[in-house]
Amino acid sequence: MDGFDNRTSYTPILPFWKDRMPHGERKDRVRKMYDTLAGVYYLWRSATHPVNMKRILEKLAMNSKDTLVDVGTGPGIVPIKLRKLGIENPILGVDLSPKEIEIARHKASKLSHNHLTFEVGDMEKLPLPDASHSRLCCIEALLLLDCPEKALSEFHRVLKPGGKAVIVEPKNTGLSKKLFYAFFKLALKSYSLFRTEYKNFSETDFRGPCYFTREKLEYTMNSCRFEHISLEEDHTHFYCVLEKNNGIH
Ligand SMILES: C[S@@+](CC[C@H](N)C(=O)[O-])C[C@H]1O[C@@H](n2cnc3c(N)ncnc32)[C@H](O)[C@@H]1O
Repeated sequence: MDGFDNRTSYTPILPFWKDRMPHGERKDRVRKMYDTLAGVYYLWRSATHPVNMKRILEKLAMNSKDTLVDVGTGPGIVPIKLRKLGIENPILGVDLSPKEIEIARHKASKLSHNHLTFEVGDMEKLPLPDASHSRLCCIEALLLLDCPEKALSEFHRVLKPGGKAVIVEPKNTGLSKKLFYAFFKLALKSYSLFRTEYKNFSETDFRGPCYFTREKLEYTMNSCRFEHISLEEDHTHFYCVLEKNNGIH
């Protein structure tokens, strides 16, 4: 596990989360689940997207030269919303699920002059050169990983000196937990009725997510190489800003 296995330090949402899976198995299950549900997930997510985009924008503090990567972009709702809020900077969305990326590309193609691109990729090993972007965001995705620290180290690598990452994680509040769980349970059950390849695919295959507590999020953020870290919360989410050293001492 490269010394990164601290899964037991998260708050388990479901009892079977405590079961240990071989490293990589959860990633395959997460990819398969988001691939399977991509169409219905887009509809559900765009209708219920729970994150305050203006707050994210404020925290990203972009100028006209900045380029943004949205990691764990799913069907591209965040880049498309940013574009609709008037942000014209180039935005690259990266996601593990090829189906989510297919939907993101399709939706973005309907916008004119969009400067939005999407690529399949794993945030624990981003398909991007070192110091290639000045801004990065990751919305409600870190909780799906075995090793969030690996992703944070990748975020640090791909950011330019002085670059900034904004990470938003949902809180384990009653409503978000119930909504999330109800959606996946219903969707997975429906799919297993109609798609024979997913006959035995149930919500227990997903085994997650594991929500961060404030304490664990602080601990995780502080274990990464970013220089300035801030963490705020509202009643549903944590908002973290991480800044990479600009190399000037
Ligand atoms: C809850 S969705 C959030 C999607 C999007 N950020 C939004 O706010 O609409 C989480 C996304 O993270 C992606 N994901 C999970 N693990 C990943 C990984 N290791 N690398 C890249 N994407 C990942 C999933 O495929 C899924 O699309």
